[in-house]
Amino acid sequence: MNSDKTNLKKIAAEKAVEQIKSGMVIGLGVGSTAIHAVNKIGSLIESGELKDISAIACSKATHDHAQKLGIPLTSFSEDRLIDITIDGADEVDANLNLIKGGGGALLREKIVAQSTLYEIIVVDDSKISKYLGEKFYLPIEILKFGWETHMKFLESLGGEPTLRKDDSGHLYETDQSNFIIDCNFGPIKNPESLAKELESRAGIIEHGLFLGLAKEVIVASSSGIKTIKK
Ligand code: 5RP
Repeated sequence: MNSDKTNLKKIAAEKAVEQIKSGMVIGLGVGSTAIHAVNKIGSLIESGELKDISAIACSKATHDHAQKLGIPLTSFSEDRLIDITIDGADEVDANLNLIKGGGGALLREKIVAQSTLYEIIVVDDSKISKYLGEKFYLPIEILKFGWETHMKFLESLGGEPTLRKDDSGHLYETDQSNFIIDCNFGPIKNPESLAKELESRAGIIEHGLFLGLAKEVIVASSSGIKTIKK
């Protein structure tokens, strides 16, 4: 990846970390942007600048990475509410609605986001769109049983579905051992109505439309950082 873009992601992520205070329960996101926040939190804990932090990770990979960095991890059986989560996104619209799930962690990410008081999304400016779906296919996590039946269903909603494969060509499996369909809907003019249609279908476990969950989006671009709030 181009180092300018990596740097922008790091700048946005580290800006978000400034809002984390000692004593908080925090959510750790997934992806090449959110990882910079996890790394920064790890170094602030190591230096003693952040104390009494407990964290819940949005994926097994983030959990393992946080553990290696010495970030204390908790679970929903101990902490039901998260103060701040810092996560990435694949696409962001002007209402701070999101597409997430490019990294396959949409289900845990949504559970964490819905249990978070203040969800901060960190992106570089290439992720901003007028309409969700302009730049990114919508990830949809589905149960393996009957996955074939969802292809026609998604076509009937105007989508072009593709079952996700991993880099070695095998069918991609989520942390919950489900499949993901990436569905090209083009620009999604009414995300609320599409979300309802998807949620009414048995076997669709979760979709990557995150509507009304982000409280703040930090966008890094070559001209600086912009914070957009709800
Ligand atoms: C994972 C996600 C990621 O947050 C999203 O894909 C953005 O990743 P990156 O920061 O690597 O572009 O939703 O499921």
